[in-house]
Amino acid sequence: MIDFKIQAGSWSELAQDAMQIRRDVFILEQHIPEDEEWDALDASALHFVVYVKEKNQVQAIATARLLANNSIGRVAVLKAYRGQGIGRILMLKIIEQAKFEQRVSLKLSSQVHAIPFYESLGFAVQGDEYLDCGIPHIDMTLSI
Ligand code: COA
Repeated sequence: MIDFKIQAGSWSELAQDAMQIRRDVFILEQHIPEDEEWDALDASALHFVVYVKEKNQVQAIATARLLANNSIGRVAVLKAYRGQGIGRILMLKIIEQAKFEQRVSLKLSSQVHAIPFYESLGFAVQGDEYLDCGIPHIDMTLSI
């Protein structure tokens, strides 16, 4: 079992760790342009970072953000840590936070390959696919 913790905080608190993960996953792996990746919404979003402790070293391995408009975005798990339930744990934490804040629904723009991931958390697809940064996406929503 992985020894992990999840930190929620502002951009100024978590930017350094969140940026490293998003750079690795979205810019280097998925080839999303730098100027598409970074936007003004980071400054006002609530950010989440998952940390693991391995061999007495703490490493940031996953991140996501929650916007004031109930939108979850920038969900990313470092490649080496995928398929181990980290993304699920991260999303459950965000859903818990949203419930705590008495939000009634959540939405996101899912890359099409990740639809089963979000469906397993209860999200449902809405409407048709579209391209964002050249990657097929579809809107998904969850009532909480
Ligand atoms: N396609 C299909 N199913 C997937 C999936 C994928 N790409 N990724 C995860 N799942 C399923 C898993 O099989 C698992 O189901 P199970 O519990 O029945 O076995 C469930 O979703 C949870 O998987 P988990 O291990 O928690 O997911 P993860 O830690 O690998 O994180 C992503 C999932 C999508 C966040 C991760 O693959 C990632 O960071 N990808 C690159 C960035 C990206 O595309 N982000 C999404 C932007 S919308």
